[in-house]
Amino acid sequence: MWTGSIRQGGGALEDIVSLTPIGVPRQKITVASLREKKLRHDPITCLTAYDYASARLVDSAGIDVVLVGDSLAMTMLGYENTLSVTVDEMLHHARAVRRGVKNAFLVVDMPYGSYHLSAEEAVRNAARFVKEAGAEAVKVEGGQKRADLIRKIIDAEIPVTGHIGLTPQSVNVMGGYKVQGKSLGAIEQLMRDAVALDRAGVACIYLEGIPREVAAMITAEVHAPTIGIGAGPECDGQVLVFHDILNLTFEPPAKFVRRYADASSLISEAVQAFRADVVSRQYPSDAESYHLPKETQTALESVMERKHAMRR
Ligand code: KIV
Repeated sequence: MWTGSIRQGGGALEDIVSLTPIGVPRQKITVASLREKKLRHDPITCLTAYDYASARLVDSAGIDVVLVGDSLAMTMLGYENTLSVTVDEMLHHARAVRRGVKNAFLVVDMPYGSYHLSAEEAVRNAARFVKEAGAEAVKVEGGQKRADLIRKIIDAEIPVTGHIGLTPQSVNVMGGYKVQGKSLGAIEQLMRDAVALDRAGVACIYLEGIPREVAAMITAEVHAPTIGIGAGPECDGQVLVFHDILNLTFEPPAKFVRRYADASSLISEAVQAFRADVVSRQYPSDAESYHLPKETQTALESVMERKHAMRR
């Protein structure tokens, strides 16, 4: 350990180094850094964001991955499920999120119908998310049966993230939002799905609504980082929906949701207080109003006086 002091041009080293910013500058998160995190057993954090304000808040809190999830169909647009949200609606939100994200890795969900008809159309839609919204990866739901398609999207230089287990775009096939992978046969299929996605080269795999034991087996088996939602603590990372952690969904939360704040009460109280102030004429106050410059005020007063005098 060096304990001496350097004097250069009369300045002590500590005077010079004190100009260096404290703390490590935040690193841009990439596909490679997500893999490194898995190897280091460093938990990956992911949250959804759907607009500029939420994106700024999530990114500046140091979250690794921002997901423009098709859950915006419900949280932002009030649809009953994710099935009706369109590519153009997703693009509109993704562009706003892009403007708010600096360091996080930006993933955009490909909505239902945008990758189901043909590989050519899927690649064209994926490329729109990159070109028109600055997505760094797209997300598609489904396992083994999507592996060839995922390879084609990756061949077009677009990173892809997978999503297996409870896949909300398959709600009508699953017969509701049900925990998946509860029987031996279902576990086997999930393992096949995860391995197929891994071999196809996905950047990470979202595991939704599966028993923690199954998520742990998948996480140990695949090279790609796993990001769980309702999939237990053994995943390489965790994702939650922004509106869920803030109590902004108007629905009772699912078992896996942890509420970190009650933004719903906070916003309701603020809105009610604003209304009460307007109705009781307590808003705006004089201090919250603009005023004429002194000279204009004096000139205006003499104009008004002359007007009154002429009327008399
Ligand atoms: O749309 C979404 O929010 C998702 C999640 C993985 C939470 O797909």
